[in-house]
Amino acid sequence: MKHLIDPSDLTKQELDEIISLAERIIADRGAWSEALKGRKLATLFYEPSTRTRLSFTAAMMELGGNVLGFSDAANSSVSKGESVEDTVRVVGCFADVIAMRHNLEGAPYVASQVSNVPIINAGDGSHSHPTQTLTDLLTITREIGRIDGITIGFCGDLRFGRTVHSLIKALTKYSDIRIRLIAPDELRLPDYIKSDVLDKLGMDYREVHTIEEVVSELDVLYMTRVQKERFLDEDEFDRVKDSFILDLAKLAGAKKDMAILHPLPRVNEILPEVDADPRAAYFRQVEYGKFVRMALIYCLLQWKDDPSHGMPAPEGVFADATLHCTNQKCICNHEHVAPLFHKTLEGVVRCHYCDSKIR
Ligand code: CP
Repeated sequence: MKHLIDPSDLTKQELDEIISLAERIIADRGAWSEALKGRKLATLFYEPSTRTRLSFTAAMMELGGNVLGFSDAANSSVSKGESVEDTVRVVGCFADVIAMRHNLEGAPYVASQVSNVPIINAGDGSHSHPTQTLTDLLTITREIGRIDGITIGFCGDLRFGRTVHSLIKALTKYSDIRIRLIAPDELRLPDYIKSDVLDKLGMDYREVHTIEEVVSELDVLYMTRVQKERFLDEDEFDRVKDSFILDLAKLAGAKKDMAILHPLPRVNEILPEVDADPRAAYFRQVEYGKFVRMALIYCLLQWKDDPSHGMPAPEGVFADATLHCTNQKCICNHEHVAPLFHKTLEGVVRCHYCDSKIR
């Protein structure tokens, strides 16, 4: 069975299939209005959301299916101490597919290990947000006309921004991608993504401190919010919260057909004066998110019993009771799950739930 926990769960062929189905849905929306009639999607949201939850809901409705679930785990039996594993076993009795957002990193992976229906990670802590990645890939395709060969600048909170981590991983499947990382030192991309993804694959990337240093090169400028809810130290958040504010002046040297993306919500990192600029694609991006989620739900249900669409074989995964993950936002430090680790090709040991470096 195919789940979507991390962008790397999809082959390039599967990615292309989802993006191209989303394009076909956009071209003929009426044709899909009964495609999943009688099927049910459960949305289990342990953390707040506007776009992701509502776009999953709208996507399932536009496919003719139904939606159940919760938008606040406090109103479910989670408040009585029910585990992720048990919750998913129960909801799998009612629904054909489950989209889960969780504040704990690795929770959707834990769910996928016991689920009898496909699990979609709708965002787990600072770790991963693969359906935002599908949204971003469709947006780039629609706005720029291609993904291969682009130069993309990621700006803002590259440390906690799970959408950035997921999109970078997905871009490694495309050719001739140039990545510019625009962040203050406190919000730089985590070392594990630089070493395990960018360095390992020899990607063309450069770290800079200002938008102006690279804006003229970019086909896509991907802005992000500084993620207040991920900081353990409020003073540290206050020091970096206004690091980047995009205004029309900063776009002066940009290409005329550059696309400005943002996963939203924004706080103050893009001034409203930018919204009317034709390059501002972030509200179009929201709508693409619904179409690509329609395509994803449809594909996962089609692929469910097809052995050629299984999960990638886990590499280097092992259990070791003497090792301990120190990430307080990892599910392994909150629920009774067996500690699991994996060793990368470079010999680094990481927690298998949250990817934190162990040694
Ligand atoms: N982009 C995104 O994940 O938005 P929400 O948090 O509103 O779902």
